[in-house]
Amino acid sequence: MARRRSTNGRGVQVEDTKVCVVMVGLPARGKSFIAQKAQRYLQWLSIDAKTFNVGNYRRTDAPHPSAEFFDTSNAEGERRRRAAAEAAIKDMLGWFRQGGVIGILDATNSTKERREWVQQVCTKEGIEVLFVESKCDNEDLIMANIRDVKTTSPDYKGQDPEKAALDFRERIRMYEKVYKSVDEDGDEGHLTYLKIMDIGSQVVINRIRDYLQSRVVYYLMNLHIRPRSIWLSRHGESEYNLDGRIGGDAGLSPRGHAYAKKLPDLVTQSVGDGRPLTVWTSTLKRTIQTARHLPSNYNQLQWKALDELDAGTCDGMTYQEIKDTFPEDFIARDEDKYNYRYRGGESYRDVVVRLEPVIMELERSEDILIVTHQAILRCIYAYFMNKDQTRSPWMNVPLHCLIKLTPRAYGTDEERYYADIPAVSTWRGKGSTAKHEDPGPDAAVI
Ligand code: ATP
Ligand code: F6P
Repeated sequence: MARRRSTNGRGVQVEDTKVCVVMVGLPARGKSFIAQKAQRYLQWLSIDAKTFNVGNYRRTDAPHPSAEFFDTSNAEGERRRRAAAEAAIKDMLGWFRQGGVIGILDATNSTKERREWVQQVCTKEGIEVLFVESKCDNEDLIMANIRDVKTTSPDYKGQDPEKAALDFRERIRMYEKVYKSVDEDGDEGHLTYLKIMDIGSQVVINRIRDYLQSRVVYYLMNLHIRPRSIWLSRHGESEYNLDGRIGGDAGLSPRGHAYAKKLPDLVTQSVGDGRPLTVWTSTLKRTIQTARHLPSNYNQLQWKALDELDAGTCDGMTYQEIKDTFPEDFIARDEDKYNYRYRGGESYRDVVVRLEPVIMELERSEDILIVTHQAILRCIYAYFMNKDQTRSPWMNVPLHCLIKLTPRAYGTDEERYYADIPAVSTWRGKGSTAKHEDPGPDAAVI
């Protein structure tokens, strides 16, 4: 069947297809982790994605079930679990009908019968199905996962964590009795699936068809859960920052050079154990100068994709000059800062599209220090911190501050290290043409 390819009006190429990503696997195999990562990635790219977690539906009816509830010979348990799955699918189909593009069904879907049922229901609605299975038999990792996230689950609220862990192990045994890995018997070869074994040490892909499916698959193949952090810094204060000018390729101001000298100390302080980092800068002078005193055993790489948002014909102007020269553009940008594209330049939305390979590479990597620019940092920060894309262009990201992000199972921890070297503010509030404006506390927490 010929498929129509179009942009989604926002610069991201999508097919006119809808995809249901159906998670598969025993409990504590990272299904919810994978689901929420996929959802974030897609939403960040402005692809409408939503997760439907069957456990949440089941909890409305059976909030604190013990392991026996999940025994397949427990008819009442079976009935209630089926009802929870039906309710989740019903809501998901309703969401697709409203225009949703990628729905993620987060449940164990651990039997062939369940998978066949989901496949049929979706196919009837013209929705493609991509099964994503996480398979892992490393008992130490599974116990670590249970202790890490399951003992604090609402299922065990108020219960002793050790007892909760034992009960959860027993719950897994209940599922093991009926679990069939996708196509284990060789009779599910018609399904579209990605099987991730032992956190990606082996992957199997089958019948992946179109652009959206392959984007999701490629992204999921790059995920890992090794401990790591990502450090983000803007360049030191530049000569253009002092003048209130945007864009350009100016060098650092004297205070900016002082920040560059201080950066190695800040990094050492925040890394802790002295392990070397890999440094990514943009191709612009100010980020390269900022990174130049970092230890010589840090590998450095310049990315064009990390260059500041291109202001086109406004490059090098102050906000006052922009307002005087292009008054309508000045207003339009304030009205929709995320989507506004500078004449001959870029919008924040364009920046996200060009940053996609950076995010992909970040997901594959371990410790990385990125020295970049205000708009770029806002976009990367929004991805990891799950921030609303349309508001993040208004976020204050101060100069001379190192941000350390540490991804965890369900979220990202953040620490900030300030160099204590004064710098101008380059933040600008709606409507303002001030060269240097005090952002106030609200702009930091967008
Ligand atoms: P349940 O069926 O109970 O909802 P689940 O499979 O959704 O369980 P998660 O809640 O996602 O499990 O488990 C999160 C834990 O799994 C985290 O500690 C995360 O580090 C780990 N994890 C993430 N990806 C994988 C993977 N591919 N294999 C095994 N563990 C993983
Ligand atoms: O056991 C883990 C769990 O996430 C439960 O919280 C939830 O009720 C169940 O999986 C959903 O999957 P299934 O469709 O197999 O019942």
